Amino acid sequence: SSHMGNDLEHVLYTEKQIHARLEELAADIWRDYHDKDVLLVGVLKGAILVMADLMRALPGSAPMDWMAVSSYGSGTKSSGVVRILKDLDTDISGRHVLIVEDIIDSGLTLNWIRANLTSREPASLEICTLLRKPEAAKVEINCKYVGFDIPNEFVVGYGLDYDERYRNLRDIGTLAPHVYS
Ligand code: PRP
Ligand code: MN
Ligand code: MG
Repeated sequence: SSHMGNDLEHVLYTEKQIHARLEELAADIWRDYHDKDVLLVGVLKGAILVMADLMRALPGSAPMDWMAVSSYGSGTKSSGVVRILKDLDTDISGRHVLIVEDIIDSGLTLNWIRANLTSREPASLEICTLLRKPEAAKVEINCKYVGFDIPNEFVVGYGLDYDERYRNLRDIGTLAPHVYS
């Protein structure tokens, strides 16, 4: 709605900056995968816009698939214990897989997904994330393609939500305090 832009306190990255960075990442990815029949694996729901813009920035076409996972336990913090809500449609055994994420926060979600997918014996497994919070890391995630490292602040927009809202914002930013009250 028209007032939602005002719910951002501080814009970290504009739509234009996001798209420019994704163009660079897409060039890097295609340099590495143009001859490898890569499968892009998005993590629902936050990664939907990164996937849409990244795959359109690739110089060639690549198939995509999706996983949906949920953290066990209460509260907003990831526990690291995950269950699969929607599994891949694709058998990734022997495939070159590139996970596409919006953000690595504690790293617990991707740590679990990476271990789960590794057990299926892909030919290779790498990660592309638009955002990463180095100060929030509880586990080290070896991530080959990173858009931006950001401070340890709660951010929304461009797929990232607060209570399922604000995913539609074109920019990425921090939420204004009045939203929480
Ligand atoms: C968010 C985000 C990442 C994950 C990162 O997903 O999209 O997938 O948290 O957090 P972590 O590194 O601390 O595990 P969320 O669980 O909110 O689901 P969503 O993508 O549907 O918003
Ligand atoms: Mn997510
Ligand atoms: Mg979320």
